[in-house]
Amino acid sequence: MKKLLSLCLLAALCVLSGQAQEIYGFSVKNDLGEDVSLANYKDKVLLIVNTATRCGFTPQYKELQALYEKYRDQGLEILDFPCNQFGQQAPGSIQEIHQFCTANFDIQFPQFDKIDVNGPQAHPLFTYLKGKKTFGGFDQQEELGRLLHQMMSKRDPEYAKSSDIKWNFTKFLVSRDGRVIRRYEPTDKMSDVEADIQLELNPTLSVIMKRRSIRKYLDRPVEHEKLAAVVRCGINAPSAVNRQPWQVRVVEDQQLIQDISEVYRQENAEQVRRDPSFKNMFRNAPNLICVCAANEGMWSQHDCGLLGENMMLAAEAMGLGTCCLGGPVRWLNSSEKARFFLQRLDIPAGYQLLYILAIGYPDEQPDARPRDASKVKFIK
Ligand SMILES: Cc1cc2nc3c(=O)[nH]c(=O)nc-3n(C[C@H](O)[C@H](O)[C@H](O)COP(=O)(O)O)c2cc1C
Repeated sequence: MKKLLSLCLLAALCVLSGQAQEIYGFSVKNDLGEDVSLANYKDKVLLIVNTATRCGFTPQYKELQALYEKYRDQGLEILDFPCNQFGQQAPGSIQEIHQFCTANFDIQFPQFDKIDVNGPQAHPLFTYLKGKKTFGGFDQQEELGRLLHQMMSKRDPEYAKSSDIKWNFTKFLVSRDGRVIRRYEPTDKMSDVEADIQLELNPTLSVIMKRRSIRKYLDRPVEHEKLAAVVRCGINAPSAVNRQPWQVRVVEDQQLIQDISEVYRQENAEQVRRDPSFKNMFRNAPNLICVCAANEGMWSQHDCGLLGENMMLAAEAMGLGTCCLGGPVRWLNSSEKARFFLQRLDIPAGYQLLYILAIGYPDEQPDARPRDASKVKFIK
């Protein structure tokens, strides 16, 4: 039985890591017609582009080459796929195209054979990329974006609904571990592309960008040493005058999690019934990190927040998933029947449970929820 369980676990882990690795299964043809496996580009940050030599966007080749020169040594690869499907603006053989691009833009990144990116002959790589990141609209703040929108809408008022490539110089950014991170339309600013490339190339920044709240976990407790490492990173967080106004409790006792979840199930029957996957009240995570804040001191909760983010990022860097949980805390702090759980946490007087981090091995790879960049202003 134990053997069967570990086999299931292994299979689940393979499926999960496989989701990100899929891209390395594709093969493309180079300008000599030879097969090239994308597995050759494992551990690189990839910018995959469909290009054309007679397009208004063709000067982007210059910017792409500039990016390549700047970041190639740090691990960037630009994969160029000329495509003649948009206004027939990539005529000629791949050799002619290559000669044009080297003569005019001195491109040094790999240029592959011409392909279709839409329609029945679309290369499977682009079908995959389009499936991962759909069309997000042209930037209506930019004149070119408005122009392309008008042009496309005239042809097909419903054009925005399909994930098809809309025009030359659409780009896809792929992380070092094979995740398709973002799609850029030709009108998107190259400075945005560059900003994302910088984040992906840097190991710390890429962890920050990769972290997502995980709400599906493998049925496998986290090793004690890993939990200890996460918490060490947590208490390395800054705090006002180094007061460290927290108490941290790492729950490894599976029975305790089950017992409190059983009480929760009884008291919140309707809510639990709506979640057919319910195994425990902490998003089914196998372990918990409970953070209690000092009741006194105006920065106490801020400091605990910083502690939590340190732990979530440390966990992410170690291949673990987390989810900050505020919802269950309300019930835990208020229900008489939950008191045994708080007693087991052994929280000293003067502290209160503030939030719980669910932690475990992730069984999902959710996309980032949208972020509102307009909340940030630079005062110059
Ligand atoms: C203080 C706090 C409380 C939260 N409480 C819950 C919760 O009770 N349940 C839950 O599923 N997610 C909870 N979250 C996670 C947020 O929903 C999540 O961080 C947000 O949607 C952004 O998604 P991301 O973390 O994947 O970027 C909480 C996050 C914070 C910071």
